[in-house]
Amino acid sequence: MSPQSGAARIAAMVFGLLATAGVLALALLMKKPPEIIALGPMTSADCRQCHADAFAEWEGSHHAIAFVNPEVRKLSQDFRNEECLACHAPRPVLGFEPGERVLARSSDRKSGVDCLACHQHPDGEGIATANRSPQKNAPCKPYYEPRLADVELCASCHNQHKTVEQWRGAPAELKGENCLACHMVDAFREGGRRGRHHGFPAAHDKVALLSAIQLLGGVDESSGTPWVSLSNVGAGHNFPTDERSRAADIQVRWQDEIGGWSEWQHVYRFRDPYRDETDLTNTQLPSGETWRQDLPAPSSGASGEARLLYRSNPYLPDDESIELGRVTLGS
Ligand code: HEC
Ligand code: HEC
Ligand code: HEC
Ligand code: HEC
Ligand code: HEC
Repeated sequence: MSPQSGAARIAAMVFGLLATAGVLALALLMKKPPEIIALGPMTSADCRQCHADAFAEWEGSHHAIAFVNPEVRKLSQDFRNEECLACHAPRPVLGFEPGERVLARSSDRKSGVDCLACHQHPDGEGIATANRSPQKNAPCKPYYEPRLADVELCASCHNQHKTVEQWRGAPAELKGENCLACHMVDAFREGGRRGRHHGFPAAHDKVALLSAIQLLGGVDESSGTPWVSLSNVGAGHNFPTDERSRAADIQVRWQDEIGGWSEWQHVYRFRDPYRDETDLTNTQLPSGETWRQDLPAPSSGASGEARLLYRSNPYLPDDESIELGRVTLGS
């Protein structure tokens, strides 16, 4: 074996090692560590890999379906009415003045009111958090933004139906509770960090609906007159709060001597009429208030029942509405 070929072999080995190291280095470069993920082109879908829990909650919310919701598509003629895009597929809200009407975005509309809509810094640089000391070196570059948890963030989209105005002066506001107190309750994240639930339960959640109201009824002891009452004990704004789309009805029925029931009769409707219904007035029940009405029985001593039906659309028939409560009137 000549010394030359030995040297050549060593050279080849060194070259081989260098080449392997080079390939490894190249591979490392191509597989970017998470710290250098660029935020600019990030979409809301990218948040899932690191915030699976918040993402799953949001996916089950009406914010996630704002652009694909069949009810919205029908009423907006599949968004041929472009006016409807603004809040249903918005640009990042923090890019607007507090409470100012938002504008529609032109890409990735399917994800509706998505993570970026509420969290993205106006310049695309970083993710807003209500945490005063966020982990600044985290991949999404969280920064403290007091506007995120402020009522004005919600007002940008939720005041067209006056929900935010109804909350002003309500018992919840006086206690210092804003929308988040009821619509973003505590949720615990991996590692024990305290987060906020992103499911935004409300008009499509029976538990939330039930928490809004207290239905009572009975017979007045001195006059013998049956009565029914409804209190808004749990909504931080009117019940039901949305204009046009919702209605809640009190109905009553009576029993004859042999136990047969009458048909359900209409007693009262809680609703804010739509703008062309100028003959109707707003009968929503403000937060903390009680409505009460006497219900004279068809014959003295007759017993009856009152119920509350919630309609996600005022024209829904009784059997497609949600019964939120029923009370007995008399024995
Ligand atoms: C590659 C992983 C990764 C991606 C992608 C990512 N994040 Fe983060 N995020 C983190 C880590 C790690 C933290 C800091 C630890 C923590 O607070 O959970 C964090 C923190 C946050 C915080 C602050 C939490 C707090 O209490 O301070 C918010 C808000 C947030 N991320 C939202 C988002 C949104 C919205 C997206 C999508 C646009 C996103 N993140 C994408 C990893 C990621
Ligand atoms: C200023 C913001 C904004 C604009 C513009 C807007 N919406 Fe909405 N829309 C909302 C908010 C907020 C909700 C949910 C809260 C509520 O019901 O009050 C909603 C809810 C709805 C719902 C009820 C969906 C469901 O399943 O309960 C329908 C339908 C709807 N919008 C249709 C439309 C149509 C049609 C247009 C255009 C004419 C439009 N929206 C324009 C903010 C807006
Ligand atoms: C960029 C606009 C926008 C912002 C900001 C926004 N929302 Fe919404 N929100 C909507 C739209 C649009 C819907 C209805 C989507 C649908 O049903 O198709 C909705 C739905 C909801 C619902 C469910 C209503 C129902 O009928 O079940 C709740 C509750 C809610 N939002 C609360 C909030 C709160 C609280 C905030 C502030 C933290 C907020 N939203 C911020 C646009 C917005
Ligand atoms: C004290 C608890 C509480 C507070 C505070 C509160 N809400 Fe609600 N919200 C409810 C309950 C309960 C419902 C279900 C009953 C109803 O629809 O009125 C509801 C319903 C809603 C709906 C569904 C409307 C519909 O019919 O589609 C929206 C949107 C909403 N709230 C937004 C807000 C916003 C925005 C704020 C802050 C200004 C807020 N809420 C403050 C408890 C609360
Ligand atoms: C309608 C507005 C809205 C949308 C949409 C939204 N967030 Fe949030 N998010 C908030 C608000 C407000 C807070 C701050 C609550 C607080 O801490 O007081 C928050 C807090 C957080 C936090 C820190 C607290 C926690 O729960 O862990 C994370 C992480 C987060 N959001 C991730 C996301 C991701 C991921 C998405 C999309 C899947 C998303 N958010 C969509 C409004 C929103």
